[in-house]
Amino acid sequence: MNKGVIFDLDGVLVSTDHYHYLAWKRMAEEENLAFDETLNNQLRGVSRMASLDIILTYNKAKYSDEAKTALATKKNTYYRVSLEDLNPTHMLPGALKTLNTLKELGVKLAIGSSSKNARYILNKLEITDYFDAIVDGTDITESKPHPEVFLKAQEALGVEKSACYVIEDAESGIEAANRANLISIGINDAETSPQAKHTIHALPELIKIIN
Ligand code: BG6
Ligand code: MG
Repeated sequence: MNKGVIFDLDGVLVSTDHYHYLAWKRMAEEENLAFDETLNNQLRGVSRMASLDIILTYNKAKYSDEAKTALATKKNTYYRVSLEDLNPTHMLPGALKTLNTLKELGVKLAIGSSSKNARYILNKLEITDYFDAIVDGTDITESKPHPEVFLKAQEALGVEKSACYVIEDAESGIEAANRANLISIGINDAETSPQAKHTIHALPELIKIIN
């Protein structure tokens, strides 16, 4: 049976999750909104606008739709500036080796990311061609923990659900994978996720799980 692995991007293959944090923090400081790493962890895997809503709700702050769009755009501008120097050396430890091994094993590979910047990042990292399918924030209407992004990626790969793994650093992503009936694997911030089917400390451990 053909096997598939769907990778989340930010916080799994590359540490852009930290750049998201810094960009939200800068925006929040300028607006005098409270923001810290605990709140940031709730934004992992969550779309840009839904993330802003979480920050505003936490602060009991009311903004018009127009003002919210302006804030989200501002955050994305800060984020994009931080991505300018991104290059293949920024991949997380073992990421490239793991992609190469999976390719050699004939495993189908996909990206399942909530980010509208995913393709830009993949190009900067020079790994776009590794993936048989890329589903990102421009392809979905529902944010994780909704399973849409992973169901679309699994369908595009054409593999059975029982042979399709999802690797995630976000609780919202682990929940999305479980709701899609795929096999969830937690890493990094989700390394101790209670709802993940498997957890790993480093990407190369993936190989043992899927073999
Ligand atoms: C996810 C990140 O990958 O993408 C979230 O984990 C982020 O933190 C989301 O909010 C949307 O990203 P972007 O790049 O479209 O603002
Ligand atoms: Mg992530």
